Formats: sequence, structure tokens, C-alpha cells
Amino acid sequence: MNTRVVRIDEQHIDEALIREAGWIIKKGGLVAFPTETVYGLGGDALNPDSSKKIYEAKGRPSDNPLIVHIARMEDLPALVRTVPETAKKLAQAFWPGPLTMILEKSEAVPKETTGGLATVAVRMPSHPTAKAFIEAAGGYVAAPSANRSGRPSPTVAGYVVEDLDGRIEMILDGGDVELGLESTIVDLTVEPPVILRPGFVTQEALAGALGKVELDVTLFSEDSGQAPKAPGMKYRHYAPKGELTIVRGASAAVTAYINERLSEGRKHNKKTGVIATDETIGEYRADVPRSVGKRTDVNAVAKGLYRILREFDDEGVELIYSESFDGDGVSQAVMNRLLKAAGHRMINV
Ligand code: TXA
Ligand code: MG
Repeated sequence: MNTRVVRIDEQHIDEALIREAGWIIKKGGLVAFPTETVYGLGGDALNPDSSKKIYEAKGRPSDNPLIVHIARMEDLPALVRTVPETAKKLAQAFWPGPLTMILEKSEAVPKETTGGLATVAVRMPSHPTAKAFIEAAGGYVAAPSANRSGRPSPTVAGYVVEDLDGRIEMILDGGDVELGLESTIVDLTVEPPVILRPGFVTQEALAGALGKVELDVTLFSEDSGQAPKAPGMKYRHYAPKGELTIVRGASAAVTAYINERLSEGRKHNKKTGVIATDETIGEYRADVPRSVGKRTDVNAVAKGLYRILREFDDEGVELIYSESFDGDGVSQAVMNRLLKAAGHRMINV
């Protein structure tokens, strides 16, 4: 299959191209598109064959459910059994935006889209191109992140091309995404609601709208003894090819420890990489040192993380050490993705 890559300027959306992209979805094809979080790989959410194609193109297990993207609040009721008060409140506060809600699904949503579950994940993205595309596609676009399974989610169209060229009909290139980490997922089918994946809509923000909101116990530890409730969270996602270890502790101790491990790695002829911040990056003796930006700017850390993980792969880095990014709010999202990338390998110094 020949994959067409078309540039879309979100300020001046080319309606003819968007209509074409929408038509591809209506005919059962696949189109990758930008959202404010990461690029999505879209298909018709109400067409079981489209969902099957998405799994095939991604190389993703088909028990891992997809997020259904909508563009208008009026389109929500058709997807769900009922729209609970909690969902109305969250939509009011955070849609369109980087928030996905888990709700009881309606008959209209095929089991292929939800990986056999009785619930459906729904999100209304804020990106103007995403909005126009979803409307042109008929209103319901199932979309996982537009990476091959196991790779970091794509933050630029070039990464989508790397992973999916020849496997899908079209890629809408909207340039760099705004946020760089996937949406917050909150399960509204339980009381109190539970965050299944942390993101830019933080636990504090959700609690502000709903009262009590809990974090899934499996998010930050490997040995909680429970299976994650978001099926996708059980897979080793975002994994770089090199072995990644997070090092946590006082800054000087972290730098000293990492440098020691790096020289050990070099002795064994391993290509080494480091993830640090502007404040400390100059102190590391790694083959591929990468700063995620200022330590105080957690949004920049979130935005740079997946790009850096891909760069390590491109450079053939075998041994990677990362500083830790503990904290509340968006830091929870950053640490959750970093821990997954590291297969939960973390050392306290
Ligand atoms: O920001 C995002 O959410 C991006 C953009 C494209 O919207 N999408 C995204 O999709 O990250 P994906 O498929 O890579 O991640 C979706 C996650 C998976 O971990 C999946 O298991 C979970 O959502 N999920 C989907 N439906 C679910 C459901 N009914 N119950 C629990 N978890 C669900
Ligand atoms: Mg994904």
C-alpha cells in the first residue's frame, strides 16, 4: 500500500484534504492524524473490520481496546448506555482536551473496538485538525497511538512514517504535537473513579471536579499483585531497545552513580545514553547525553521524553540511565511512562 503523507496547517485547514481523509475512514481505511497529546491511528470506530485493521497495522494484540474519538458532545450518548453526572462534569471541565473517560458501552460499539470489554473509552481531542477530521469521518474515530506496538507514541509525523509507512492509506502531518504524552484515562464505571493512566489532566484537577479520585494501584509498582485495569498498561510499552535504568536520589549522588555505571558500560564496549536535565547534563560522560530541558519545566520533560527514547534507538544505544522525575501532577505521568520504558528498573542511591 502506498501511504500518502499530507501537510495540514491547523490555522488554515484544507477542507478538500480533510474530506478525502474522512472518506477513507468511511470506506473502512486507516488515517493517522495529529492530536494535542500524540498522533493517533484512526479507523471507523463503529466498523469491526476497521478495528481489526488497526490491530494489524500496529502489530497490537486485539484484546487491547481502542479509544473512540468524538468531536461533539451530542455524539457521546450513542456510544454509551447512559451519560453519568460524573461524565457531564468532566466533559464540561476538560473536553475538548487530553482526557479519556471509561463508560459502559452501548450496542452500537462493536466488541472488536473495545477488545471484548463491556466498557468503552471515549475522548474529545482539542486539536483543530483532529476535530475537523473526526467530523469528516462520520463522528466516531477509533484511534490508538500511531506507533508500532512496543515503540514510543509518535510526537511528530515523521515517527508515524517510520512505524506505519506502507501499512495505512494516509498520514495527516500537523507538525509537532503540543503535549507529547497520551491522555489521562479515568474509569467512571466505579465509585470512586479511578485513574488508569496519568496524564496532563492531573489527579488534583479531576478531584477538583469530582471529589475523590483514586490512582490504579498497579501504575507505579510492578509487584502490586494485581492486573492493570487498562489492558494496554500490562504490555511493556514505550520500551527503547537499550536497557534503561532510572536512578533516584540526591542530585550529586545520582550523577556520581550514573557516571560510574557509564564507565563500567564503556569497558564492556556498550554504547551509553543518559536522560538528564539542563542543570546536570554537562556532568555526564555518556556517548549520547540527552537533556529533557529544565527540571522545573515538567511540561518540557513530558514533551521531550518519547523523542529522546526514539533517538536512543536510532543511535543504537545499548545502556541508558535516567534521572528520576518525582512529584505530583504531570510528573506522575512522566514517571509512569519512564517506569514502563524501564520495565520498572529503578535504583535508589
Ligand atoms: O492521547 C491519547 O489517548 C492517544 C491519542 C491518539 O488520543 N491515544 C492513545 O491510545 O494513547 P492507546 O490505544 O495507545 O492507549 C489507550 C489505552 C490502552 O492502555 C487501553 O488498554 C486503554 O486505553 N483502554 C481503552 N479502552 C479501555 C476500556 N474500555 N477500559 C480500560 N482501558 C481501556
Ligand atoms: Mg499507545
